[in-house]
Amino acid sequence: MTMQVRTHSNVTHIDFLPIAELQERLPSKAVIVTDDIVTELWESPHRRIVVPAGEASKSLHSYSQVVEQILSLGIDRNTIIVALGGGVVGDLAGFVAATILRGVTFLQVPTTLLAMVDSSIGGKVGVDTPQGKNLVGAFKPADQVLICSEFLDQLPARQLTNGMAEVWKYGFIGDAPELNKLRAGQAPLTEIIFDCLDHKARVVEEDEFETSGLRATLNFGHTVGHAIEKVLGYETFLHGEAISIGMAAEARLGELLGITEAGTAEQVKIDLASAGLPVDWDGLRDFEPLIAAMRSDKKATGGKLAFSLLTRLGDCKLVRDVDDESVQAALTA
Ligand SMILES: NC(=O)c1ccc[n+]([C@@H]2O[C@H](COP(=O)([O-])OP(=O)(O)OC[C@H]3O[C@@H](n4cnc5c(N)ncnc54)[C@H](O)[C@@H]3O)[C@@H](O)[C@H]2O)c1
Ligand SMILES: [Zn+2]
Repeated sequence: MTMQVRTHSNVTHIDFLPIAELQERLPSKAVIVTDDIVTELWESPHRRIVVPAGEASKSLHSYSQVVEQILSLGIDRNTIIVALGGGVVGDLAGFVAATILRGVTFLQVPTTLLAMVDSSIGGKVGVDTPQGKNLVGAFKPADQVLICSEFLDQLPARQLTNGMAEVWKYGFIGDAPELNKLRAGQAPLTEIIFDCLDHKARVVEEDEFETSGLRATLNFGHTVGHAIEKVLGYETFLHGEAISIGMAAEARLGELLGITEAGTAEQVKIDLASAGLPVDWDGLRDFEPLIAAMRSDKKATGGKLAFSLLTRLGDCKLVRDVDDESVQAALTA
């Protein structure tokens, strides 16, 4: 299976392949950036830079260390940087590839479900700072994304379920048949990954830089989800778990505002819970810190909150200027 994503700066070629073919697809001059867990999962003769696993490696400190290590290898503009790992390594290595020698070729080999269905395409790369997540970065679409679903055999169950939250998100906001596929639970994971990438690819091609509101629709569940992550200091919940709670809350919000078809919120909750994802959190009743966090969301304008809300299962739109009272009612319902 292959797919292409055309953006302003390049065409991303996406290939699905067996892990046995991965080594021959990576040029000998490639430098692999990976983390200390993933590096054990796959061997190759390529040069490697290994960072500690975890979000803490998406920092300016790691960025400068990786850049210095790569520069000391004596690279040139034909050097290829390969991100082998989850979203942390992808975002970090992508930012390095965007900036080192003012930009070199960048390949992604995503190894988590979240990275396969989401972070490996779309070009958003960057690092966190003490002031917040993803505040420094660039648009650097990968030239190639190589997907070996066998990596998922090694992935801990909680990380797999975490990625499924984004998969369900595509189902809720996109084509409704995808939801039936997910509920039946029989489609191969590669087919599901392909469907998700296809959805994101179409959105990114139309609205790469998030100007029309279309790309913002991918943020269903994320206004609340990001706020939960922020309030909890990015501990307790993984990203997918936080947006699962966020999707349940934002579906309620949509119904409350009369934008979402009645009964949708209940179905969203049932689907997510059946996937083993959390759909509620006591902290939602402590509204003040959450609303403060939501105001710093990139979609918010002039202090007014914006949400990607479902109109029905399989369709959504960006809704601006949502009033605080409705948000509070939805969160505490
Ligand atoms: N750029 C984007 O568009 C975008 C989109 C969504 C998320 N993100 C970013 O992605 C990051 C989260 O990514 P993630 O969920 O992949 O987390 P991650 O990269 O931290 O990986 C999760 C854990 O799984 C381990 N791991 C990875 N692959 C494995 C495998 N095959 N087997 C066993 N263990 C494996 C990692 O070492 C790590 O400990 C966040 O920083 C988020 O901001 C970026
Ligand atoms: Zn997400």
